[in-house]
Amino acid sequence: MMEPSAAVACASCRRHPLPPSLLLCLLLVALCLPPALGLYTVNAVYGDTITMPCRLEVPDGLLFGKWKYEMPNGSPVFIAFRSSTKKNVQYDDVPEYKDRLILSENYTLSIKNARISDEKRFVCMLVTEDDVSEEPTIVKVFKQPSQPEILHQANFLETEKLQRLGECVARDSYPEGNVTWYKNGRVLQPVEEAVVINLQKIVDRSTGLFTMTSSLQYMPTKKDANAKFSCTVTYYGPSGQKTIHSEPVVFDVHYPTEKVTIKVLSQSSTIKEGDNITLKCSGNGNPPPQEFLFYIPGEAEGIRSSDTYVMTDVRRNATGEYKCSLMDKSMMDSTTITVHYLDLQLTPSGEVTKQIGEELRVSCTISSSRNATVFWIKDNMRMQTSPSFSSLQYQDAGNYICETTLQEVEGLKKRKTLKLIVEGKPQIKMTKKTNTNKMSKTIVCHVEGFPKPAVQWTVTGSGSIINKTEETKYVNGKFSSKIVIAPEENVTLTCIAENELERTVTSLNVSAISIPEYDEPEDRSDDNSEKVNDQAKLIVGIVVGLLLAALVAGVVYWLYVKKSKTASKHRKCVSHHSREDI
Ligand SMILES: *[C@@H]1O[C@H](CO)[C@@H](O)[C@H](O)[C@H]1NC(C)=O
Ligand SMILES: *[C@@H]1O[C@H](CO)[C@@H](O)[C@H](O)[C@H]1NC(C)=O
Ligand SMILES: *[C@@H]1O[C@H](CO)[C@@H](O)[C@H](O)[C@H]1NC(C)=O
Ligand SMILES: *[C@@H]1O[C@H](CO)[C@@H](O)[C@H](O)[C@H]1NC(C)=O
Ligand SMILES: *[C@@H]1O[C@H](CO)[C@@H](O)[C@H](O)[C@H]1NC(C)=O
Ligand SMILES: *[C@@H]1O[C@H](CO)[C@@H](O)[C@H](O)[C@H]1NC(C)=O
Ligand SMILES: *[C@@H]1O[C@H](CO)[C@@H](O)[C@H](O)[C@H]1NC(C)=O
Ligand SMILES: *[C@@H]1O[C@H](CO)[C@@H](O)[C@H](O)[C@H]1NC(C)=O
Repeated sequence: MMEPSAAVACASCRRHPLPPSLLLCLLLVALCLPPALGLYTVNAVYGDTITMPCRLEVPDGLLFGKWKYEMPNGSPVFIAFRSSTKKNVQYDDVPEYKDRLILSENYTLSIKNARISDEKRFVCMLVTEDDVSEEPTIVKVFKQPSQPEILHQANFLETEKLQRLGECVARDSYPEGNVTWYKNGRVLQPVEEAVVINLQKIVDRSTGLFTMTSSLQYMPTKKDANAKFSCTVTYYGPSGQKTIHSEPVVFDVHYPTEKVTIKVLSQSSTIKEGDNITLKCSGNGNPPPQEFLFYIPGEAEGIRSSDTYVMTDVRRNATGEYKCSLMDKSMMDSTTITVHYLDLQLTPSGEVTKQIGEELRVSCTISSSRNATVFWIKDNMRMQTSPSFSSLQYQDAGNYICETTLQEVEGLKKRKTLKLIVEGKPQIKMTKKTNTNKMSKTIVCHVEGFPKPAVQWTVTGSGSIINKTEETKYVNGKFSSKIVIAPEENVTLTCIAENELERTVTSLNVSAISIPEYDEPEDRSDDNSEKVNDQAKLIVGIVVGLLLAALVAGVVYWLYVKKSKTASKHRKCVSHHSREDI
């Protein structure tokens, strides 16, 4: 706004347009006024009251004051009159200003409810008997537009396509404003074929207010997925340029899938037979594809499915390459699945009954997707080697477990059991020994066989007391039964061993306690007992005398031991031999 004194000076220039003062007047105008036409200006807000002071010194002898405005062609229209003498006010019958004017005592004119059409040049006139003073005032009306809104928003944006994103609308502005589009806070400049902005300004005939509509056509890229689009309206207010921002809008940007990915979802990192496998296919487009074709090994045609394909209880034949593609087969991804397996075959298995001395070949074979380790357990003890029997012994009987695991595959473990039973008919070997007090003899019946044979003793002759002691523990098919006897005459002792397979009877002649005789050693090496037994029987058949029989048996035994034992054990045999001579 201009300085009042300067305005007064200018006003007086205009009143007396004399050539000498014209230059001064122009100079003053140039000096004192902003480009706003060099006149006193009142800025009003649309709808408010415009207050225009008269800005003239009230002269002495004032008759009346008047306000008029000037039509575009310069002709005046009087609107208000105040008589200084009668103190009354009259408003001219101008429809535009009906009921809107107040002319106060100091000739300040107020116009209620400012309109755009009030932008005029108003003039205050003070009239005395001999002079008329005039002072113009320019009225400017401003109307702030509504907050811009983005209307007709696209539901989604598609990449590589120029499309209408929306319209930014700011309503009822005066003077007209400009609309600017922003993406992520940066001005969107028009770009051929990519950013096309079209601004329309429509004026309302009745109000004179402008509505600005800026449509934006935009070709998005994938990066615009989360971009915030907004617009602003820039307008002039009474104190200069101002800006109002719209709410930002984010669009769903649709773009095609460029890559298909197949994934295997399973409970563990490795897959084994019996597992469930879920294949999941995904595309990186937006919106993501909902349907795919899954290619399963061995099937030529793709199987149409949602983004997952489930296989339950898979077998080893499910190993292979799995693929998935978009419905149009344009893109594909593949993955290889290995279904681990572990088969174990034990032959023979289950309960197996064999006879002692028989041969048994045991095989535990595995077939597996990886190298698997096999180990054997016999009666809960880890074995160092796998079992194999060329000649079964009683101690070979037991529970054998062949077990295998695939280390790399969690939970893949197999085991099979062989329950081996070694049967044998009872075998008897009898020994006798004169006890140190020379008052009794101990006779032992060594029994071998499975199932465990029952032992019975019988004695022929008289005057003998049989003191039967407890049997030894039955270990590896062997045990012994022992009796202590003090025969007064020669007797024959019979040991009877019987199991489900056979009844075996063996007799031994024992001479009267008074007659010294050769004692056979009580403890013998288990390995040899069988053979010795046979030999003993042979000897019994050939030799008549008990002493001779014992002698021969001793010799045979000594020979046998010499043949099969080491040198160190040889000495022991010699000592036995010498005892025989007593
Ligand atoms: C003129 O009168 C009005 C109301 O009576 C008052 O508000 C205004 O300040 C006055 N103006 C001058 C320039 O005295
Ligand atoms: C609108 O834009 C035009 C042309 O760029 C400029 O002259 C005018 O001042 C602008 N208006 C506003 C309110 O910013
Ligand atoms: C596989 O899925 C079936 C149902 O579809 C379920 O009964 C079974 O327990 C699953 N097997 C495994 C190993 O999770
Ligand atoms: C895999 O083998 C099972 C039988 O073990 C059979 O039922 C199934 O059809 C086979 N699957 C394929 C794909 O060959
Ligand atoms: C599997 O065993 C074979 C032969 O025993 C051997 O050559 C191969 O290296 C083993 N593989 C692994 C992974 O141990
Ligand atoms: C028979 O054995 C018992 C105990 O085992 C013993 O007390 C008894 O003296 C023995 N009799 C003979 C004749 O050895
Ligand atoms: C025991 O002696 C009798 C005669 O006294 C004889 O017939 C028998 O063959 C002898 N038996 C043994 C095993 O030596
Ligand atoms: C008892 O046996 C011994 C030999 O061991 C023999 O010399 C003796 O004659 C026998 N006695 C009887 C009564 O048969």
